[in-house]
Amino acid sequence: LTVVVLAGGISHERDVSLRSGRRVTELLQRAGHSARLEEPSGELLTASPDQRPDVYWVSLHGASGEDGTLQALLDLSGVSYVGTPAGAAALAWSKPTAKAIVARAGLATPEWVTLSRASFRELGANQVLAAVGSGFGVPAVVKPEHGGSAQGITIVTDEAFLPRAMVDAYTYSDNALIERHISGTELAITVVDTGDGPVALPPVEVAPVTGLYSFEARYNAGETVFYTPARCDDDVLDRAADAAVRIHDLLGMRELSRIDMIVDDAGTPWFLEANMLPGTTETSLMPLAIRAAGIAEADLYADLARAALR
Ligand code: DAL
Ligand code: MG
Repeated sequence: LTVVVLAGGISHERDVSLRSGRRVTELLQRAGHSARLEEPSGELLTASPDQRPDVYWVSLHGASGEDGTLQALLDLSGVSYVGTPAGAAALAWSKPTAKAIVARAGLATPEWVTLSRASFRELGANQVLAAVGSGFGVPAVVKPEHGGSAQGITIVTDEAFLPRAMVDAYTYSDNALIERHISGTELAITVVDTGDGPVALPPVEVAPVTGLYSFEARYNAGETVFYTPARCDDDVLDRAADAAVRIHDLLGMRELSRIDMIVDDAGTPWFLEANMLPGTTETSLMPLAIRAAGIAEADLYADLARAALR
């Protein structure tokens, strides 16, 4: 196959995307394919059919990739690509929208409120504090509506820090979520579909040294301890894996996704978010899950690229 891996782009996760894209490119080459990395540009639309690869691999994280913009352009050009289709990506890219879809299907997701920057300005910090205080209180997690790699996310344990956390979230999005904090085991479940339907790879337990799986804890080796297998009972892991596959389907994901969850003490998996184009850097979770499954990463990526030709 000839594969063009699209990476970089204009988002807060540009550098992570380049790292992910370089690794996918190398591994596809190792699997014997002709792969190269490119930055996405408008030229994708005007390329003549003989300039096009058999398949594109969308390795863009964040806005312009995970929000479906680029996939819409690829759909318009009629080319095959690995990645979530435009419409599904646009929905799932909004964390509150994804949570609402999952909640409507009867699966657990922590209670939340969404607040726009404008209403935060209008209501003032005190009313926000009062509203959260009478709802689920602290600890709470404040997140931007859109984004990845934990940018703009704060775990608030003292209400006094809530307004500051909101301001941080608004750096990344016009809307912020305040979500009830669930304590338990953090699991990342990669779901892949090489053509025979979606299957969950072994859940990876994420145990950041500082307690928060922050940007630093994600991309600096040694700042997070990963457990595969995760330290949960088998039936709890099965339940979480089943929920992840269901969510992959519900949200319209295709060749790959990573569903992030927290499993509480009662064994209930709580959906946090879906990653349409999960990171594939050397410290990312999807490569760990693939290794835990005993699969060669290069072979799986080649299979996913072939699956996208459908
Ligand atoms: N957003 C980053 C790349 C991840 O989900 O791995
Ligand atoms: Mg994410």
